[in-house]
Formats: sequence, structure tokens, C-alpha cells
Amino acid sequence: MNILEVKKLKKVYKTKLSSNTVEALKDINFEVEKGEFIAIMGESGSGKSTLLNLIATIDSPTSGEIILDGKNISTSSEGEMAIFRRENLGFVYQEFNLLNSLNNKDNILLPLVLANEKPQSMQTKLNPTAKALNISEIINKYPYEISGGQKQRIAVARAIITNPKLLLADEPTGALDSNSSMELLNLFEDINKRGQTILMVTHSAMAASRASRVLFIKDGIIYYDIYRGNLNNEEMYNKIVKTQMMLLAGGESIE
Ligand SMILES: Nc1ncnc2c1ncn2[C@@H]1O[C@H](COP(=O)(O)OP(=O)(O)OP(=O)(O)O)[C@@H](O)[C@H]1O
Ligand SMILES: [Mg+2]
Repeated sequence: MNILEVKKLKKVYKTKLSSNTVEALKDINFEVEKGEFIAIMGESGSGKSTLLNLIATIDSPTSGEIILDGKNISTSSEGEMAIFRRENLGFVYQEFNLLNSLNNKDNILLPLVLANEKPQSMQTKLNPTAKALNISEIINKYPYEISGGQKQRIAVARAIITNPKLLLADEPTGALDSNSSMELLNLFEDINKRGQTILMVTHSAMAASRASRVLFIKDGIIYYDIYRGNLNNEEMYNKIVKTQMMLLAGGESIE
């Protein structure tokens, strides 16, 4: 079953002061099945964040369609969208985006508070999430009292506590050292195995090598995609690096 369908998606940015326009996305088409772990790669400025923000309903497309779990989100109103976003999507960003005025537990529970969930039910959801993410010990501390890797785990907990249909992550390992990156990727692999569909933008071939499929954006389209198939992480990594070189060389196949 497809959880996400992106059809003929186009995004043109118009700058206010000049007549210049930037075509960030030209014609993006792809589908995501429930349970997939997808990495999106491409050079800086290729439109990865633009694509993620459109799927996240933070921004709206110039044309084309995004269908999430059967619902066409490109035609929804702002109000509908806000509710839909809260109920269906989880986000993890490079900079964690935790609130320093709340302790870690309240940061994690924030999406449930916004959804008017009862305290009892919040606690029921918190316990297994905290256990799975190995954050029970730091849950009563504040974000400024914990490490970057720990902050990112809190941010992941906040993103998945609502049991979202789709977890969206933009450079989730971008601000982490290699050990914390590895831990975060193990965590993503883990929650993916438990059924969470993930869409992750990354510059890192190491990070992408954990995914079940990698999409490469170039010239505003999905220029290339590779499937893991039976490859292990190392073989997948080699295939990704080879593809990156091929795309840098102009897109001709080097097989
Ligand atoms: N709000 C905006 N207004 C105008 N142009 C924009 C805006 N946001 C992005 N762009 C342009 O759209 C293109 C795609 O940007 P985007 O941020 O999606 O790239 P990216 O692939 O995420 O890059 P990076 O890897 O550096 O994060 C770039 O040329 C960028 O300058
Ligand atoms: Mg970006």
C-alpha cells in the first residue's frame, strides 16, 4: 500500500524584490510504500529541503500533487492542514528544535498536549517510547543539560510519540559527531523495523546506506534511485558513493 504519492511536483520560488525566479523542483514523481525507509540525496541547493517542506505541508507547491495516505494534501485548507500535520506527520530537524523552557519530558509530550490528549494516555505513550529510545534517565532534565546525541533522541521521541504515518527528517545527523550519528541511525533502523515509514534527507552516504531505497535529486527531478535489495550496509554504501560520482560526472552510467 502506498503511504505517499508525489506527482508532477513543481516548486518555483519568486523573490519579492527582483523578477528572478528559482525553479527548485521541476517534475518530481515517486511513491512510498508503508514501511519503507527512504533517503533523499543530492547536492546542496538541489531542492531536498524544498521537497521535504512540501510533504511536511509547511510550504505549498507551484503545481503537482502530494497524496498522503489517500488524502490529497495539495488541495487542503490551512486549518485542515494544521490538524492533518499534527495527526499524521512527525519531524526531526538538524538543529533539534527543542524548547529550553520545557524539560525533556514536556518537549516530547508537546504534540500530545497540543492535541488535547488526557494526561493518563500521554503517560501510557511516553513510557514505551522512552524505553525504546533509551532516554528514561534523562527525561526529567532540560535540553540544555544533555548532549547533542541525547537531544536528537529526545527530538525523535517527540516526533514519533503521536505514532505518525510518516516520519520526516532533514539532515538529522547533520549536527552530530560520528558516534551520535551512528546511534541515531541505529535508532532509525530500529523504529523502521517496527513499522515506521521514514523519509530522510541527508548528505551522508553513511546515513543513506541504512535506507531501503535512495532517491537522488538533480536538475529538479528524481534523477536516479537505487534499491537496497539484498545488499548489506557496506555494499549499499559503495553503491551510493558510485552513484554520487556518476551524477557528479554528468549523469552518465559508469556500470
Ligand atoms: N524561500 C526561498 N526563496 C527563494 N529561493 C529559495 C527558498 N528556499 C530555497 N530556495 C532555493 O531553492 C533551491 C533549493 O533549495 P533547498 O533548500 O531545497 O536545497 P537543499 O537541497 O535542501 O540544499 P542543502 O543541501 O544545502 O540543504 C536553492 O537554489 C535555494 O536557493
Ligand atoms: Mg536542505
